[in-house]
Amino acid sequence: MTQHDRLLIIDFGSQVTQLIARRLRELNVYCEIHPYQNVTDAFLKEFAPRAIIFSGGPDSVTREGSPRPPQAAYELGVPILGICYGQQVMMQDLGGKVEAGQSHTAEFGRAYVTPKEERIDLLTGWFLDGTGREQVWMSHGDHVSELAPGFAVYATSPGAPFAITADLEHRFYAVQFHPEVHHTPNGKTLYENFVRDAGFKGDWTMDAYRDEAVAKIREQIGDKKVICALSGGVDSSVAAALIHEAVGEQLTCVFVDHGLLRLNEAEEVVGMFRDHMNLSVIHAQEQDLFLGELEGVSDPETKRKIIGRLFIDVFQKYADQIEGAEFLAQGTLYPDVIESVSFSGGPSVTIKSHHNVGGLPEKMGLKLVEPLRELFKDEVRALGHELGLPASFIGRHPFPGPGLAIRCPGEITRDKLEILRKADAVYIDQIRKHGLYDEIWQAFAAILPMRTVGVMGDGRTYDYALALRAVTSVDGMTADYYPFSHEFLGETSTRIINEVKGINRVFYDCTSKPPGTIELE
Ligand code: XMP
Repeated sequence: MTQHDRLLIIDFGSQVTQLIARRLRELNVYCEIHPYQNVTDAFLKEFAPRAIIFSGGPDSVTREGSPRPPQAAYELGVPILGICYGQQVMMQDLGGKVEAGQSHTAEFGRAYVTPKEERIDLLTGWFLDGTGREQVWMSHGDHVSELAPGFAVYATSPGAPFAITADLEHRFYAVQFHPEVHHTPNGKTLYENFVRDAGFKGDWTMDAYRDEAVAKIREQIGDKKVICALSGGVDSSVAAALIHEAVGEQLTCVFVDHGLLRLNEAEEVVGMFRDHMNLSVIHAQEQDLFLGELEGVSDPETKRKIIGRLFIDVFQKYADQIEGAEFLAQGTLYPDVIESVSFSGGPSVTIKSHHNVGGLPEKMGLKLVEPLRELFKDEVRALGHELGLPASFIGRHPFPGPGLAIRCPGEITRDKLEILRKADAVYIDQIRKHGLYDEIWQAFAAILPMRTVGVMGDGRTYDYALALRAVTSVDGMTADYYPFSHEFLGETSTRIINEVKGINRVFYDCTSKPPGTIELE
């Protein structure tokens, strides 16, 4: 198997460490994030990085016992880039000085750096737009007050006389700002220069990954059988397509239809996998079971619990029919498995509780296959593309496991679901027609537990009200409502009321997250 050049990101607890990894992956560089506590001498030897990046972090290097990399990192002879706290750590470790925060040297937010006379390769492509400066994003209280021996300054900002410094002989680079964030517009170039200097060939592509992953899956599974819960989402779909490429008929997918899917969704998903990709898919038609148990339930948490429990039961029932299955496939992604730095003691593993089949592997004695564990979402999409999944499918907005149940506050009835499906389809059609689908992170309609009075033709109506939701987001953790034009909203409202019997009023939800959540329940 190919051994990619690897870059190690030592995490000191910055909120934006993951962005460093994403910027590097965009440059086709394979990197991993590891919390500083785990980076021992033995780990470094085993990992054998071609370059290292020290992330930012919330601590102060002036505090005794603050996080440090192992001394061995400096002795590997590979380039190191220190960012913010990482810069300060590097300076102090190598014989410079850092002073604790003072108001006149602290900088938060946008700042501008200007270059010194001597230019270095790290800054190739910087300072070219005629203004003679570059916008960067700062977030520091402490500052370097004396450079370590061997370092020189190559750019400054008003609050950071040592904004960009380097020891060219050792290829140690230290910057006070965050090149990984969006508000450092030319940050990607800096990373590109850094990895080029370190000799990365840019060999981390989804094309290459596909072949390696296939080989690895074959080795893991041998001639055994695998089962996979298809949700219709991008992650489980790409995982299934990849595993199918590796072991073909040994994979069986189970698509659980809980009666809470969108218009034509089950047919589209099952049709695509079964007819176009030749996967063996069991379409578990369990609408009656789910809707039956949900009857009369209006508490959001109770709904979620019922759906989660039934999902596991149903999946297990179908999986039991597949004789000799030893593996369970899951579309776990890299962000789900990155250990985060915890300052309340020990590293903690963040695993999303959303995985619908959580707990199943132990219960059924199955081993896990997780072929996307090393990938970020953008990479999963690129891989899906490589595997021949249609672009319209890969670019789909996220859809929650509990489906329309959490878009139907109050009691769920078949009538309401029917109305909601039609209204949601018109709304999404409007968004696509106006070319807005890809600009929006997630959009959907929700049917409200209220009826309002209207007048249509000469008659009075007393029908349901509908809420439209559309948000922009990066990861669903925070979100902003999408600023549709009034024309769009007016046109969409008219279309929904004209085309969907049962709705006579439409609201637009303009709550961001926080304080709201994306879903209504
Ligand atoms: P909230 O409503 O928590 O949603 O702001 C954030 C994102 O997560 C999705 N979501 C879920 N996805 N199972 C899932 O697979 C769930 O139980 C679940 N609840 C919320 C939601 O659609 C949004 O993208």
